[in-house]
Amino acid sequence: MIRTDSLLLRRFTPADVDALTVLYADPRFNWFPYRRARSSAEAANFVTSVIEHWRLHGIGRWAVCRRDDGALLGHCGVTTLTWPVRPNAWDLGFRLDASARGRGYGFEAAAAVIDDAFARTDADSVVATAEVAHRACRSLLKKLGLVEEAVLRHPRFATAHVVASLSRIDAG
Ligand SMILES: CC(C)(COP(=O)(O)OP(=O)(O)OC[C@H]1O[C@@H](n2cnc3c(N)ncnc32)[C@H](O)[C@@H]1OP(=O)(O)O)[C@@H](O)C(=O)NCCC(=O)NCCS
Repeated sequence: MIRTDSLLLRRFTPADVDALTVLYADPRFNWFPYRRARSSAEAANFVTSVIEHWRLHGIGRWAVCRRDDGALLGHCGVTTLTWPVRPNAWDLGFRLDASARGRGYGFEAAAAVIDDAFARTDADSVVATAEVAHRACRSLLKKLGLVEEAVLRHPRFATAHVVASLSRIDAG
């Protein structure tokens, strides 16, 4: 569990599927890159895959909750990197409910996740990808210290994505 000023980052459990289904029902939550709302079954699959990732790797996506009342706001974490191929790097990702954006929560959660990932694993870097047009995501990555290094066509979604990374050395 990770506590920040405003947030509690904790492990997902199957009991989170209902709350996540509500977040998934808003197309803004998964707009990049899906462009649609996602179903309850997709929320359940997500939770199953997150729990399995933690079992295999001892790290993964955290449930991001408001500290005050424990409300689930979204998720943030690192996962195995499948694209682009980089040695010994984690894939950083985050997704918050639209009502929780613009308050610094994305930065708070992701900064804590990066610190945790470098502290508990031997990864050399964290990598993130963002659609070129996704200003919020690119701004957040920049604020976190990730450096944009390439624009590549995403193999699965066929849109142009910025690739950004932060090395362990630069993270201090
Ligand atoms: C990306 C996301 C996590 C940002 O979270 P957030 O809590 O709103 O971000 P923060 O408030 O911590 O802001 C971080 C920085 O990004 C900037 N930023 C946030 N939203 C922005 C926007 N829409 N346009 C431009 N800059 C933006 C902030 O101004 C801040 O920089 P600053 O301190 O220099 O002003 C959030 O918008 C989100 O969940 N989006 C939908 C899910 C998604 O697309 N995830 C990424 C999939 S690749």
